Amino acid sequence: MSRTTSFKLVLLGESAVGKSSLVLRFVRNEFSDFRESTIAAFLTQTVSLDENTAIKFEIWDTAGQERYKSLAPIYFRNSNAAVIVYDITQASFEKAKSWVRELQRQADPSIVIMLVGNKLDMESQRKTPREMGERFAQEEGLLFAEASAKSGDGVEVLFMEIAKKLPLA
Ligand code: GTP
Ligand code: MG
Repeated sequence: MSRTTSFKLVLLGESAVGKSSLVLRFVRNEFSDFRESTIAAFLTQTVSLDENTAIKFEIWDTAGQERYKSLAPIYFRNSNAAVIVYDITQASFEKAKSWVRELQRQADPSIVIMLVGNKLDMESQRKTPREMGERFAQEEGLLFAEASAKSGDGVEVLFMEIAKKLPLA
């Protein structure tokens, strides 16, 4: 019989980088070109690591809009994992870096952080080179991925990578 362990995961990053879109692709395999800005949303998804082990993600999808920024610590304080998202076609990488710094100062030191460059389907409009994300992640000891919530490319695999890093009792 399979044993399920629950972990809390939070998504952070500037507004419109695609946090909600990544979660809805992962949880419901859905995508919409028109998505309203989030205040806060809670979703769950369970993945199996092997035939005996399942991981249940309890996901807080947070607001990227600046006016809700002060709420973020409520969501990341008890998180086991954080997905920090930027949009490879927009200037959102600096904001992602500042979320990393904030987690390093304020989150649980054991938190697993994954940096994600989203909107990989818009490669022709890329502004942030893959190497820039990769290098920063390596320097800071973060997991790194690029993905597209629109095509689904890289989405499931990024959550699986996080699942593999979480401490099973
Ligand atoms: P806030 O809730 O305001 O913080 O924004 P968010 O980060 O949750 O962004 P959201 O998922 O709402 O997506 C913003 C816009 O980007 C929407 O119009 C999405 O359809 C679009 N979008 C999200 N992911 C992708 C992607 O991978 N590719 C493309 N082309 N568009 C995307
Ligand atoms: Mg959102």
